[in-house]
Amino acid sequence: MRAHEAGALHGDLGNRGPNWLRVPEDVNALVPQLWPRTVTRTEEGALEIGGVSVLDLAAEHGTPAYLLDEADLRTRCRDFAAAFAGADVYYAGKSFLCKAVVKVIDEEGLFLDVCSGGELAVALAAGFPAERMGFHGNNKSVSELRRALDAGVGRIIVDSFQEIDRLTALARESGTRPAVLIRVTVGVEAHTHEFIATAHEDQKFGFSLAGGAAFEAAIRVLDEGVLDLRGLHSHIGSQIFDTSGFEVSARRVLELQAQIRDARGVELEELDLGGGFGIAYTTQDDPSAAADLAKRINKIVDAECAAENLRRPRLSIEPGRAIVGPAVMTLYEVGTVKDVDGLRTYVSVDGGMSDNIRTALYDASYSATLAGRASPAPPLLARVVGKHCESGDIVVKDEFLPADVQPGDLVAVPGTGAYCRSMASNYNHVPRPPVVAVRDGASRVIVRRETEEDLLALDVG
Ligand SMILES: Cc1ncc(COP(=O)(O)O)c(C=O)c1O
Repeated sequence: MRAHEAGALHGDLGNRGPNWLRVPEDVNALVPQLWPRTVTRTEEGALEIGGVSVLDLAAEHGTPAYLLDEADLRTRCRDFAAAFAGADVYYAGKSFLCKAVVKVIDEEGLFLDVCSGGELAVALAAGFPAERMGFHGNNKSVSELRRALDAGVGRIIVDSFQEIDRLTALARESGTRPAVLIRVTVGVEAHTHEFIATAHEDQKFGFSLAGGAAFEAAIRVLDEGVLDLRGLHSHIGSQIFDTSGFEVSARRVLELQAQIRDARGVELEELDLGGGFGIAYTTQDDPSAAADLAKRINKIVDAECAAENLRRPRLSIEPGRAIVGPAVMTLYEVGTVKDVDGLRTYVSVDGGMSDNIRTALYDASYSATLAGRASPAPPLLARVVGKHCESGDIVVKDEFLPADVQPGDLVAVPGTGAYCRSMASNYNHVPRPPVVAVRDGASRVIVRRETEEDLLALDVG
């Protein structure tokens, strides 16, 4: 009997698994909110995504591979666009960007937020209209700003006084009047991991509201008159489920907007409340539908505008994870299964922290299932780990897999569309996996697998 099997079967996880994790009645069952919408388990037992069996996808594209459910991605874009009708939905490209996804974002009528010259280059290469782009970043270089201006990027979200100076100089040089938003640090402690909370005071983004820098920045831009100040921006963090953070953020930003009006008689036209809407990585996560988010956020903005006697600015939001995250699952092949007696069963897969750093970086939780077959074996509490030379190379900290999981099995991990491929590395010189889009029974590679030749091509020494 494998380590944990007896305990797991009796629901006694001791201190080895989180106390919310329950022994599943059916270890082959899929919890719908965790999986891309077209994923099902066929009668033969293998998972299918976009109408294609993972057995065929593994045979054709190899593992590990990110499998993108294109229908799901489009549905999420449409849900956000419909829910936030009258507002602008900027897809946060940092969550995952490639030309095919940019085209989907364009076709679905969304806007696009980029935050580096590289992301700008991908968006432009895919033909995305620059005027529907926003450009973010706390340290944009002069050359990145120049490229954004040359391309005609719709708005630049300024993040420091130095950036205001750089952009002002570039605008004078080029005779343009770039539209800008000021990123405001509203002092909200978002209830999320420290590294993905972005509006508390002690971090690098934005202009402090409490310290007066945000007001000073707005007044400077207005008084100089070189940049076109369109509005204020706040992004409080990521993987947020509780809209009270947005409420505080909207209130504080709109109070600042009222102060600016009182000081200069200018009513700013736009308000961007950022992204950060949470998704389900495990059964513990209970994300809101886009329609509910929209209802709550619109209500908050209406109430705060009324309280400050402000004309309602045009709202924008910047969801990344909530659009692409749930549309992707990663398919791995199991290489080894190791029972560490009395402690834990480690299931090693052929990827790991190089294709998903979030577990190591943010202590993120994920789920997994046996993907290539259904199994009659009882549930076994396992830890899914990668192939890298780090003991922190964990993909899924705790998950029940069938007790007969073995080398050669396929394992799928859902919720890997956001901040996985985009944060992927070549640690241990492991080439990065491909992204394969699947739709209506057909698959196509949209980002090809990296090869060792690709890695060696950079090594010119
Ligand atoms: C300014 C800004 N907007 C939007 C996002 C997207 O966040 P999420 O993918 O959690 O929606 C981020 C994420 O870091 C961000 O920094």
